[in-house]
Amino acid sequence: MQQNIVFHDKALELQALARKIADDVVRPGAAHADRHSEYNMKAAKAVAGAGLFRAWIPEAYGGLDAGILSLALVAEELAKADSGFGVAYAVNALGSFPILLGGTEEQKQKWMPKIAAGETFVAFCLSEKFAGSDASGLSVSAVRDGDDYIINGEKKWTTNGGVADVYTVFAVTDSTSKSRRISAFIVEKGTPGFTIAKVENKMGIRGVPVVETHFDNVRVPAENLIGGREGLGFKHAMMTLDHARPGVAAQAVGASQGALDLANVYANRRVQFGVPISQHQMVQKMLADMSMKTEAARQLTYAAAAGIDANGPSPANSKMAAMAKCFASDVAMEVATDAVQVFGGYGFMEDYPIAKFFRDAKILQIYEGTNQIQRIVISRHLIREANE
Ligand code: CAA
Repeated sequence: MQQNIVFHDKALELQALARKIADDVVRPGAAHADRHSEYNMKAAKAVAGAGLFRAWIPEAYGGLDAGILSLALVAEELAKADSGFGVAYAVNALGSFPILLGGTEEQKQKWMPKIAAGETFVAFCLSEKFAGSDASGLSVSAVRDGDDYIINGEKKWTTNGGVADVYTVFAVTDSTSKSRRISAFIVEKGTPGFTIAKVENKMGIRGVPVVETHFDNVRVPAENLIGGREGLGFKHAMMTLDHARPGVAAQAVGASQGALDLANVYANRRVQFGVPISQHQMVQKMLADMSMKTEAARQLTYAAAAGIDANGPSPANSKMAAMAKCFASDVAMEVATDAVQVFGGYGFMEDYPIAKFFRDAKILQIYEGTNQIQRIVISRHLIREANE
């Protein structure tokens, strides 16, 4: 499918604002955030102040209606400076999409303006200890009790956990149904019984918390059932991931570009055999390949985002989102690996920022659907297309 990529002024303005914030507060804080596993609140406030959380949200709910492409442009700039902060930003979109795509008008009016203003941070609670790639195999339950639901169980890998004020939580409401087992709920921080049980100690993206959440008889009003009807949760989760994956791809493009930029500068400074190593053809090949792959990933990412902006949810856009996420994150891992290689022994040391790019890149191939799952999604679309 051919997709015209149109960069509206609004999206370009948001990109420029993100680049400035990345230079002013994200990159300077990246090493500290990584070393101390500390969320960069100063950067988050700058992002909120500049209106960047409004990017993907329609005007009717306090947003700028600048689409998934603008979300991607912002995520790319932030991730170029610090992958951990890039995902911290983009997870607000992931967590808000169930409300935006599946919520009732009242739910959108109630929650989205606060998310748009950056007053309310969001997290997405889908994965569990025994339900990661198999997202329909959840065991967290939600049982109706009068005007409330009571949620019990444990969630795993919740990015932004602790920092977020609101969590979109997927739970089983009808264990007997195959296609309508799952519903999604809005759970507020501080609801009795809802706790952060463990903050994970991670290899990379250490500046953003990833946590285990526990639900012990957590009572939420029925008005927090997303969409107002049971059984819509799995579809909302899948639609959410389709919308969010271009944002992950964009984080990967930013990470690739950030690693390439460092490697390129280093290769032009580091002298071996009497010349900068950028004069050696084997290094030139590495840099050329890194640049080529990054640009290919960028174009695919922008096309996937622009497709959703133009046509909304569709099988073609689901396929494109999976392709962009998979391709761009594989590229990020390759580029980060080669960037370390360009730095040689220094690349292996934490004294230089390049090692962090390498550690941060790996998760891009895993979260929001492993790249094995992306290939399953892509191939299922191909099979369907062949049989149409
Ligand atoms: N849009 C809308 N509906 C969809 C859909 C889509 N993209 N994909 C599937 N569905 C619907 C199907 O039409 C089907 O509906 P019916 O029952 O009405 O026919 C239903 O959902 C079930 O579909 P499948 O049979 O295809 O489901 P499946 O069990 O085979 O799973 C899967 C499909 C693609 C493998 C899915 O489980 C999946 O995406 N897994 C990966 C989950 C994932 O990405 N998790 C990451 C969590 S977020 C994270 O990483 C943490 C973080 O905070 C960053």
